[in-house]
Amino acid sequence: MKDILTAPFMTEMIRTTTNMYAHGWDERNGGNISLLLDEAEVKESLDMTPIRTLETGFEALELSGKIFLVTGTGKYFKNVQYAPDVNLGIVRLTENGTKAELLWGYSDGGRFTSEFPAHMMSHVARMKVDPSNRVVMHCHPANLLAMTYVHDLDEKAFTRTLWQMCTECIVVFPDGVNVLPWMLCGTNEIGIATAKKMETARLVVWAQHGIYGAGKDLDETFGLIETAEKAAEIYLKIAHLPLVNTITDEQMHLLEARFGVKAREGYLN
Ligand code: 13P
Ligand code: ZN
Repeated sequence: MKDILTAPFMTEMIRTTTNMYAHGWDERNGGNISLLLDEAEVKESLDMTPIRTLETGFEALELSGKIFLVTGTGKYFKNVQYAPDVNLGIVRLTENGTKAELLWGYSDGGRFTSEFPAHMMSHVARMKVDPSNRVVMHCHPANLLAMTYVHDLDEKAFTRTLWQMCTECIVVFPDGVNVLPWMLCGTNEIGIATAKKMETARLVVWAQHGIYGAGKDLDETFGLIETAEKAAEIYLKIAHLPLVNTITDEQMHLLEARFGVKAREGYLN
């Protein structure tokens, strides 16, 4: 049996949580990540005997049998590198997604993030749009969060502002950013609403709370959020100043052609 702590998915998860904390995106226990694992890869390090079974509180038929590496509820990203087995867990969903067998981790008796519904429902949504998506990532980056206090939450307006803040934005997230109004977090309701938004974009802002990103791997999903957060930072630096220049829609079309991307339908003139 291989050592689970040196499995590529584990080292990548530890690096990512550490890096997200260093970016200031995950104060205290803020933020959570779920990574869809490949069963064959997990079997190299685990005998797959369930340690205990947890109730999920929702149904997700599509996820039955799927295995995820998930951050624990109440756990601090800054501590993951020192005690991965306490702060992370590997779970296999069973019984139509209503139960999760703990295969490894949460060794202090803990459980997966309180945002498990939003994560799992978002995985279901993204799998249908793009089966290469294996990661759902949530965090509280200050600039995006701040922007939700001062910017119109209309998705087209919000997306266009971000696209205009850095040339690469439209290339990195051509599908734009969807936005949910403030909702109670940790509930099935916000999970359902987030998943619906994930059908049309890989980024979903939770107003006055944070952001969700989805992508094919941890690095790419981190980069996605990083790019949007950078754009929000530029916005906050300039929002109170007279705007003299911008990236025009004509220039956005040049970027589409140059990088082979297609901006969200109806978002450019
Ligand atoms: P958890 O500690 O349950 O993951 O919650 C953190 C968070 O960001 C809630 O939205
Ligand atoms: Zn949060």
